[in-house]
Amino acid sequence: MVVEAGCILSAAKERAAEDGMFFPLALGAQGSCQIGGNVSTNAGGINVLRYGMTRDLVLGLEVVLPDGKIWDGLSTLRKDNRGIDLKQLFVGSEGTLGIVTAASLKLNPLPAQRATALVAVASLDDAVALYRLARRECCDLMSAFEFMPPTAFALAQAAMPDLVMPLSNEYQAYVLMEISGSGLIDVADLMQRFLELGLERSLVLDGVVAASESQARMLWNFREAMVEGQVKRGRHLRTDVSVPLSNLAAFVREAELQLAAELPECLAISYGHVGDGNVHLNVLPPVQTSEAERHAIIKRAKSIVNGVLADYRGSISAEHGIGREKMEEFRAALPPVQAAMLAAVKAALDPEGRMNPGVLF
Ligand code: LAC
Ligand code: ZN
Repeated sequence: MVVEAGCILSAAKERAAEDGMFFPLALGAQGSCQIGGNVSTNAGGINVLRYGMTRDLVLGLEVVLPDGKIWDGLSTLRKDNRGIDLKQLFVGSEGTLGIVTAASLKLNPLPAQRATALVAVASLDDAVALYRLARRECCDLMSAFEFMPPTAFALAQAAMPDLVMPLSNEYQAYVLMEISGSGLIDVADLMQRFLELGLERSLVLDGVVAASESQARMLWNFREAMVEGQVKRGRHLRTDVSVPLSNLAAFVREAELQLAAELPECLAISYGHVGDGNVHLNVLPPVQTSEAERHAIIKRAKSIVNGVLADYRGSISAEHGIGREKMEEFRAALPPVQAAMLAAVKAALDPEGRMNPGVLF
């Protein structure tokens, strides 16, 4: 499907669905974000574990280059191995090499069946173990696996007061999981049998499977409202870090312990795309904190998280990109060989530094 850069993501998804097709990029902002922004930031979201990031969903691009020339790279070929794949230079380059004006997108068949469940687990360790089990047992049909801590519900309710907690007891951690597919498989039955297996293995403590589209929507509302709830708490540290999946739980445990010791007044909350080894480990100062204090707290919290992250050889940006905010940390950690290659690419395409100066370069 070829779309212009200004097309709203949800409009592209709806148009594809009219033809029984599916554009898998899915994120909270899909009702307002645009394809051009998705491409230039290599947007991720909740379906990455199955379908990949925007980079994996783009077949071609049209780009206005810094000298005004237009590159018509709007190929719809699924397979094309003619040398260097130039479009990938522009995906995730945050507007620093050119302006994306259109994209050809890779579509999948629209999954006709979807099963969504909110599952209670004992810890992030168990969530990772459950994820691994799901990868083996769900016929490669798992399309989302999002981790949420117990504080998520209070935060979500702050943004969406009429939300009701779908499970009657409180637990240490939750997973919002989705299996989807089409054709000769019963996805609801698969989910049911998987949750029973999880119970047998003592990984699943409790759970609720959405009985309708609107119940599934309500479960996803929790996940989205939790993000809005944090915004309501004022300026805070937002991260989108990643580590290898096998280290994810240990990393979060260590970072949260250090944060609790050094910033006990703050609320640290870790949630997100466990299957990708990517968590949003955010640190929220108390509500009444002044802007000046927030600045100092965010700086301190960031250095704690990044310190632990470095020990685990993780990434300071698994998902949201560098922008201006992470510029300093990005540059400071850039190995010289990599810095030189990036500078050479920038100089080749944008020798006068016209495109988005101060970002990435
Ligand atoms: C999310 C955004 C913040 O996962 O990346 O909610
Ligand atoms: Zn995210």
